[in-house]
Amino acid sequence: MPAKPTSKTLLRRLTTSARKAAGQAYAPYSQFRVGAAVLAGSGKIYSGCNVENASYGLCNCAERTAIFTAIAAGETEIRRVVIYTPTPNVATPCGACRQVINEFGPNAGVLCLCDGPEEIETTLDALLPGAFGPGNLLECTRFSRTEQVSTEDPPAGLQVSPLK
Ligand code: THU
Repeated sequence: MPAKPTSKTLLRRLTTSARKAAGQAYAPYSQFRVGAAVLAGSGKIYSGCNVENASYGLCNCAERTAIFTAIAAGETEIRRVVIYTPTPNVATPCGACRQVINEFGPNAGVLCLCDGPEEIETTLDALLPGAFGPGNLLECTRFSRTEQVSTEDPPAGLQVSPLK
């Protein structure tokens, strides 16, 4: 199902939130500020900025900050994501953020804005085609519940301890 069209007012509110969030970015290492705003299933908007860390691997992207804030507030669905960077060209969400958007908004619309005239309006599906998601794990759970797992006659060389 394609993303529902977002009204102009809502889009303006999302854009304003994303821009404002970029102002809160904690990016002393990269100096690359990012703001994100998400429209959640309830119709509420949540925003977030990137939060870096002296231990670089712990840096959190703006999109994930916004989504985690929404989920922590009780939301279960993400409909739209707006990303703003105060740069001449737009930046699209990184791979990790695409995966996190997919978890809660596989049909989400994604709008990327910057200080230049360029903007990208796309969908999560276009950014992460063939995504691995909750459905894949559901198939696996169903399989292991219905299939008999035998521990007898393991292939030569393979040690299998009995299931407890
Ligand atoms: N960043 C985001 O906030 N979102 C993205 O989708 C890409 C990257 C942040 C992480 C880091 O703080 C800085 O940008 C440079 O990578």
